Amino acid sequence: MGDSSMFQDAKAFIESRTKLRPSVAVVLGSGLGGLADELIGSEEFLYANIPHWPVSTAVGHAGKLVFGMLPGRILDEHELAPLEVAVICGRAHLYEGYTAAQVTFGVRVLGILGVRAIIFTNAAGGINTSLERGGLLLITDHINLTGANPLAGPNDDSLGPRFPDMSEAYSRAYRETARQVARELGIKLNEGVYAAVLGPSYETPSEIRYLRTIGADVVGMSTVPEVIAANHIGIRCIGISCVTNMAAGILPRKISHEEVLETGAAVRDTLVKFLKALLPRLET
Ligand code: HPA
Repeated sequence: MGDSSMFQDAKAFIESRTKLRPSVAVVLGSGLGGLADELIGSEEFLYANIPHWPVSTAVGHAGKLVFGMLPGRILDEHELAPLEVAVICGRAHLYEGYTAAQVTFGVRVLGILGVRAIIFTNAAGGINTSLERGGLLLITDHINLTGANPLAGPNDDSLGPRFPDMSEAYSRAYRETARQVARELGIKLNEGVYAAVLGPSYETPSEIRYLRTIGADVVGMSTVPEVIAANHIGIRCIGISCVTNMAAGILPRKISHEEVLETGAAVRDTLVKFLKALLPRLET
């Protein structure tokens, strides 16, 4: 069975169980759940029940796809049209042993279902010393150091081109909208380059010096394969990192997954507020 019939199986499963047809989606990273609880009329699909959907094993990751509505787009001064949203709560990672094809399965299914814009959130280590633990960062670009690419292998021409352009992997227009929304809400939004590594070990201080030298501001173990697959299929992307810890060697302390989850939980409310305001503003 080829990939495309796997996407069709998942699409058929979802479409037969909900009337919602979201055009925007969010992927929630480690400890960053919360938005899904805010959706109106939500319908949940456990990954385990969706054909071929990989089940995340990472601690702090729920494993469900949630469709629902946000009080959304302004029609006129009297009326808000509900915005249909898809939320991927918990992702599969390369470090869990999943292939790049598995890690990007959900993004491709959403693309085939008609999603045109995705906000990717993640936990990341701060490399740029002007960043602070607990801050949010708008990803301007990425550096793929995972050693994997979801487009390696035969190209599925029905999804996208063999050699997709990545010069605006994170939509310039959406970044401008994100800045605007952050300003309106009084949320401090840093900006920078996200370096993706395989993990699961955290970096050594020397690796962090190297990443700083090549132009990275934050480092994490996700998002980049998904953003590549999204660009391939024509979905426009936003990336938001939560700086859950300063990267290795910056502070005289060790990095722990507990710290990452703790910080994620502490910024969750700010992130939810930001996402709720941003989603209806994305032109699709
Ligand atoms: N390094 C890599 N991935 C991460 C980190 C880090 O310091 N923090 C959260 N995800």
